[in-house]
Amino acid sequence: MKIRKYTQGITHTALSFLLALGVSSAVSTSTLAAEGAAGADAIPLPIVVSPYKDRIPETAANVAAGRALYERSCIWCHGINGEGKGPVAWFLARDTAPHPRDFTYGVYKFRSTLSGEMPLDEDLFRTITRGIPGYMPGFRGYSTEDRWRLVYYIKSLSPDFKGAEPEAIKVVGTPIPANGASIHRGYQVYKKFKCWECHGGGGAGDGKKAPTLKDDWGFRLPPRDLRRPSAFKNGSTPADLYRTIMAGLDGGAMPSYSDFFEGSEQDVWHLINYINSLAAE
Ligand code: HEC
Ligand code: HEC
Repeated sequence: MKIRKYTQGITHTALSFLLALGVSSAVSTSTLAAEGAAGADAIPLPIVVSPYKDRIPETAANVAAGRALYERSCIWCHGINGEGKGPVAWFLARDTAPHPRDFTYGVYKFRSTLSGEMPLDEDLFRTITRGIPGYMPGFRGYSTEDRWRLVYYIKSLSPDFKGAEPEAIKVVGTPIPANGASIHRGYQVYKKFKCWECHGGGGAGDGKKAPTLKDDWGFRLPPRDLRRPSAFKNGSTPADLYRTIMAGLDGGAMPSYSDFFEGSEQDVWHLINYINSLAAE
């Protein structure tokens, strides 16, 4: 299976360099780390990475039934062969990203798995259920069974799913109350990992690298305006943001940060509080 890891030039060497400079020690761990523990004021939110459990079996009959549903609802954008070249795709955006996903290519953005891995079935189910703000309708109108049939049909379009056993990333810690200290710490993490190079100092999506970013298919892909959580394609709850930051959005220009937060996952929750503090809607 192909392993493509999306880190967009942020290498271990670069990280060791930062560590050698003592950049990380600028972020102190003392009091804030304690707040994240399951203390009295910790938010009792269960972090469910993939909440959809009731499912029907992946049989040939269900794949065939999924195909019929696909031909009714998805070909318009994703095309008859699943290559993302349906007639509506042309109207959605000809020269800029995103184009409807090419299901034969085997790269997915909205995963709870490590960068370079296939998504879990539950990830596909979640995307089909919720849709993608601004680009794809949600299909909650279909029964749970029918949405699973669609998942199985989509999987049948790429050989990369055969034998793949993607694992969910570990979720370490829980959301932390969004007090001033946590938001400030999150801001330091935002600076340390140079999120601003793409998303801009104020999160408006206007960082210096923004005009240069392209997706895997060579189309210009602007970074998200972090002040507009309702436009987040991968969702805007703390659990959704954890997935986005740790797993990255493969095929796009949003890198994955799971390697960099290993051992300091607490900082992701502070970063999430910082992102939420930018919301202006
Ligand atoms: C109006 C157009 C449109 C329709 C209709 C549509 N999609 Fe999409 N879909 C898109 C676009 C655009 C993307 C890519 C978004 C991106 O890359 O940010 C996408 C992406 C996806 C993805 C990839 C998610 C990922 O993790 O990368 C899946 C799965 C998907 N669509 C399934 C479906 C299914 C199943 C249907 C029919 C039930 C459907 N879509 C109907 C436009 C559409
Ligand atoms: C190399 C440029 C780049 C860097 C660095 C970067 N991002 Fe992104 N980010 C993007 C792009 C491009 C998108 C939009 C991707 C898409 O639509 O497929 C994005 C999307 C997002 C989103 C919205 C996801 C969604 O659901 O729509 C969040 C949140 C985010 N980034 C947070 C961060 C944080 C936090 C950091 C630093 C730890 C960071 N980004 C670093 C380019 C970058």
